Amino acid sequence: MKTNTTTGKGKAKKSRSGSRAARDGDFVWTRKHLLGLEGLSREELMHIFHTADEFQQVSQRSIKKVPALRGRVVANLFFEDSTRTRMSFTLAAQRLSADIIDFSASGSSISKGESLRDTVRNIEAMGVDIFVIRHTAGGAPHYIARCTDCHVINAGDGQHEHPTQALIDLFTIRERKGRIEGLNVVIVGDIAHSRVARSNLWGLTRLGANVTLVGPTTLVPRAFEKMGAKISSDLDAALDEADVVNMLRVQHERMTSQVFPSLQEYVRLFGLNAKRLKKAKPDILVMHPGPINRGVELSSDVADGPNSSILRQVTNGLAIRMAVLFLLNQVSD
Ligand code: CP
Repeated sequence: MKTNTTTGKGKAKKSRSGSRAARDGDFVWTRKHLLGLEGLSREELMHIFHTADEFQQVSQRSIKKVPALRGRVVANLFFEDSTRTRMSFTLAAQRLSADIIDFSASGSSISKGESLRDTVRNIEAMGVDIFVIRHTAGGAPHYIARCTDCHVINAGDGQHEHPTQALIDLFTIRERKGRIEGLNVVIVGDIAHSRVARSNLWGLTRLGANVTLVGPTTLVPRAFEKMGAKISSDLDAALDEADVVNMLRVQHERMTSQVFPSLQEYVRLFGLNAKRLKKAKPDILVMHPGPINRGVELSSDVADGPNSSILRQVTNGLAIRMAVLFLLNQVSD
């Protein structure tokens, strides 16, 4: 049975665990929260993509709004800056006809000593159904999920996970390459501080991609091998066989010490420019989650060139976030 993404009605069914859940064929969606991609099954990932496919179609209509979340309230809780994730969740909730309220730590009563728990409980008391949270501390969304009855979506927690960004990346690879299984995906840069890399790695390996992590040894911990990745510090060698290259920003704001000799050296060894790209497969897909440091991890001619899917990733973010909001809303305790 297909989930009706237009109305959101009539397709929920009691699962064996007793929760009401969204169904698609024989698959039953049962997760109340999206806290990370660790532990998501292949079926769950594919179900999100199928739901997002339907919302892509909605986004191409002249009237792009559906009533699926009418009467529901989504609260954005952002304790760290964001452009794409925040605006995309806002628009996704609006397209689903939810009411959306926006909280930023800056300018809030956090400055008067109010705790995270009290902040969340007070906002919940206004009648919120879904929290979308970004926080500098890894695990903050998991903590919030324990202190509220609402659905919780992790919009990026410290260096831990950024599940919707990874879903966008996987969805974009599937769209552009027609598959994920068997592809050689290279993720380059500041892996150590990257929640995007962690979430991508969980999702890519679950769907059968071969993942190589490339960067300075100080920024690519060996521990990632245990998650199924190969590790290299030779970008040119890794690009030889790559179908997809995902370039990450150097996150100076999360570093406590100098991790490479100079930015010039970093750009020479790990920056992607047109000359380097010429040696890769002609149809290599160049990705970046944003924000880009132009001239560091990517030159502008590559960022804006024909192999780049960077703005397409942003466009796809809307359908993915509509799908996640829609699916979680189908599940109740
Ligand atoms: N990719 C991403 O999370 O971008 P923002 O920090 O702008 O949300």
